[in-house]
Parts: sequence; structure tokens; C-alpha cells
Amino acid sequence: MGGERLWYERDVERVIVTEEQIATRTAELAKQVSADYQGVDRLLLVSVLKGALMFTADFARALGRCGTPVELEFMAISSYRQGTTSSGVVRILKDLDRDIGGAHVLVVEDIVDSGLTLSWLLKYLASRSPATVEVAALFRKPGAMRTAPPLKYVGFDIPSDFVIGYGLDYAEKYRELPFLAVLKPEVYRRVGG
Ligand code: PRP
Repeated sequence: MGGERLWYERDVERVIVTEEQIATRTAELAKQVSADYQGVDRLLLVSVLKGALMFTADFARALGRCGTPVELEFMAISSYRQGTTSSGVVRILKDLDRDIGGAHVLVVEDIVDSGLTLSWLLKYLASRSPATVEVAALFRKPGAMRTAPPLKYVGFDIPSDFVIGYGLDYAEKYRELPFLAVLKPEVYRRVGG
């Protein structure tokens, strides 16, 4: 008799970044950010939903462990896509709840793929006159970038494959997986986009 298989095992082809690697790198990034923002009394994390949900929660707690106080603000934006490719045409689903004028803003992104979403967001935030704006992105696909927005903090450079897990979805599924992975090709036929 075989043991119980986790539901996602039939869908995941391979894990690209493990849960442990994510935790270790998140702690390292938090240490770096804490050192860079020493003396700043108000660091405002602007988290880009939905994908950045997991990273934001872990990163904010890692910053807390380093003794760096943060405030949290959320935006929900979505890029119109042709298949899995971003078009750079962005829709705001949820805007900032407060004035960020004069604030030290750190944008928290799960992934920078083409870079188009982030480039748009940085222009949008700059128009609201923050004191500083930097970006912390957990994953970056150097091979897919069509524009190169300034990324001060990057967790991992990954291949250009379509990836899911740790906040990233395919057809709104797989966000809850604690690691970053590639799906089996048959899933795209079964789940449908
Ligand atoms: C993903 C991701 C980034 C963006 C990156 O968001 O969270 O915001 O795509 O792609 P790009 O660099 O090619 O522009 P998505 O639009 O899929 O929305 P979601 O986070 O709600 O899933």
C-alpha cells in the first residue's frame, strides 16, 4: 500500500527554490535592509498583491526580528496578459490607503518577470512624492526582462520558465505552496487559463 500523496505532487514537475532556501534568503535580505535603513523611523512596505502576500508576511516578520519597525500598505494591481506574458498595461484593483508623501517606501514584489508591471508602479509611486523608493523582489527572471527597473534587493535569479507557488499562481491556483516550482505541461491542458 502506498502512502498518502500530497495533492500537488501530481501537478508539480520540479521545485526550483525550496521553502528552506526562501526562509534563509528572506532573513538575509531583512538583515541587509535593516542595516541600510538604520535611523529611518518610518519604513513603509508597499506590498503588491496578490502575488507578494507570502513574501510580505515573511519579510515583515524577518525585519521585525532584526528590530526594524515597518508599516504596511497594500496595492493590488494586475497586468493584462497575452498568455503568460505581461503587456505592461496595468489595472489598479486596490489603491494605496494613505498619502506616501515624504515616506521611505520599499516596494515588496514576489517576482519581476518582464519588469513592465514594476516600471509602471515605480512611476506611479514617484508621482506621489515619497522621500525614497526602493524595491525588494524575491524572484527575478533576468532572461525575460524587457525593461530594467532599479532593483536594490533581489532574492533569487531564476530561469524564464513559468513558475508557481509562494504567492504565484496559475489560473489562481498554487499560491499556497510553500516553495517555487514548475508545473507539469499536462496541468495547463487540465486546469485551463
Ligand atoms: C505578477 C507579479 C508581478 C508581475 C510581474 O502579478 O506579482 O506583479 O506579475 O510581471 P512582469 O514583470 O512581467 O510585469 P500578476 O499580474 O500575475 O497578478 P497577481 O500578483 O495578482 O497574481
